Amino acid sequence: MSFSHKSLLGLKDLTAEEILYLLEESKAFRKILERDVKRVPTLRWLAVVNLFFEASTRTRISFELAEKRLSADVVNFSASTSSVKKGETLRDTVNNILAMKIDMIVIRHSSVGASHYVERATGVPVINAGDGTNEHPTQALLDLYTIRERFDHFNGLKVTILGDIRHSRVARSNICGLKKLGAKVVLCAPKTLLPPYPEALGVEYTTDIDEALSGANVVNVLRLQLERQKGGYIPSLREYRMFWGLTAERTKLLDPDHIIMHPGPINRGVEIDSDVADSVDNVILEQVTNGVAVRMAVLYILAGRIKE
Ligand code: CP
Repeated sequence: MSFSHKSLLGLKDLTAEEILYLLEESKAFRKILERDVKRVPTLRWLAVVNLFFEASTRTRISFELAEKRLSADVVNFSASTSSVKKGETLRDTVNNILAMKIDMIVIRHSSVGASHYVERATGVPVINAGDGTNEHPTQALLDLYTIRERFDHFNGLKVTILGDIRHSRVARSNICGLKKLGAKVVLCAPKTLLPPYPEALGVEYTTDIDEALSGANVVNVLRLQLERQKGGYIPSLREYRMFWGLTAERTKLLDPDHIIMHPGPINRGVEIDSDVADSVDNVILEQVTNGVAVRMAVLYILAGRIKE
């Protein structure tokens, strides 16, 4: 199996075989993370810049660690302390950084399509670390890896995505990947937080949380994006939790063989209760660990394409 893409901009662009290839390759890197010495010299020739124009804890640290574990040179950029503050354009910022002989770009940006734009403007391989409400492909890959690690397959699994789907790039990438791999995807949110045309996504959707959770093997709970709730999408946090929060009582509706996922950051007591977030069924921190391995695999495969 080969991977024909120069960049990873979204799971929309990948075939099921390519997604499975990335998941399979990630296994070897996951093993490296269990060793005493977690660093390999594989990418010591590579220089990567992590361009974060939006806040991040997990993705940013995970990419940096993945790059360092592969012995790449790493430069971190934060918009808040850069010349973007002085009015420099995205294109000028990126081209100035590339003039310092950088081989690959990881970018998170609030604008949909920012990673596509940077790839077109520079010709350099780009990894999308989240672009607005569009895609977050490495998050979806680590979610898929975590599901596969537990169930060993996707066919026929009921995966419920619960929460603020309207604003979620994680949901969009997960929907793409899960559909391609044969899972049954159910979206659940208040009507205002479902995507505008849910039927166009080719998945089931409901506003009824009991129906969505009933018999589900996986529930992926999404953060209520508090910073994007200015449009009056929900009456109050209290009511959101009452009707769409994942409580211990509601987890009884899930299939006995289930896992509870959350991409983070978590709003405890809003979309998920604290006791559920800390329960034995949750794999939230496993997702974070798997994220480093998956990002190592993506970096390794895309770097290999530079050398072709
Ligand atoms: N899951 C995720 O993207 O988290 P961060 O925003 O902290 O990177």
